[in-house]
Amino acid sequence: MRIPIIAGNWKMHKTVDESIELTNAIKRSIYEIEDVETVLCPPFTSLSDVNEMIMDTNIKLGAQNCYWLNEGAYTGEIAPKMLKSVGCAYVIIGHSERRAMFGETNETVNKKIVAALKEGLKPIMCVGEKLKEREANKTFDVIKDHVEGGLKGIAGEDMKNIVIAYEPVWAIGTGKIATPKQAEEVHKFIRELILKMYDKSVAEALRIQYGGSVKPDNVEGIMKEADVDGALVGGASLKADSFADLIKKTNALGKG
Ligand code: PGA
Repeated sequence: MRIPIIAGNWKMHKTVDESIELTNAIKRSIYEIEDVETVLCPPFTSLSDVNEMIMDTNIKLGAQNCYWLNEGAYTGEIAPKMLKSVGCAYVIIGHSERRAMFGETNETVNKKIVAALKEGLKPIMCVGEKLKEREANKTFDVIKDHVEGGLKGIAGEDMKNIVIAYEPVWAIGTGKIATPKQAEEVHKFIRELILKMYDKSVAEALRIQYGGSVKPDNVEGIMKEADVDGALVGGASLKADSFADLIKKTNALGKG
């Protein structure tokens, strides 16, 4: 049994006051939910305040990025150790926006995953193809490259602390969600790849999130698929009612 995991990626949204307001509203709406793991990933500046507010709940805290070293002259970077010190349990690594706009590569993703694990943070590693790659029938090649590159040298025993998020780039922020069949096909491929790289128990325990325009009205179709274990949610995580709604709908499916 894999506990579904729904993470809200707030991206570069919400001041500290706005983060507090949103967190309060989310807390109120999902206090009864027990069978879905909920993760809030606010911007760095709000991590500490959001952490204070969720301490008495089972909501977890996540960051949106980290550097691969724990200290030094790296102006503007944030170390895994620092994220740990403000209460983060998770960290998103290799989001397609970071790959496209901030020079993230499989190599930097891999270094960050190694560093995050070392500090006891759980990486949510993002993988996903661009529209051009899908149209050229390269989806599986890209996913294989992202998964193998990102997980290079990662031991099987560390895999229980890693979540993979499949996020087709063409579905992010576009309102164009992958069909449940398209999502399942890639999730299944990822699980089979993990089986080849590790073993059956690692592959069966791995949680694979779908991300890209997940909303309350489409979450059930996606979540019903056998290899979909959660969602990484951008836009719909910025409003308490839509985020809570998709968590409740996931909970009602009874997958956990
Ligand atoms: P979206 O973003 O839900 O707004 O498409 C998802 C993501 O980028 O993680």
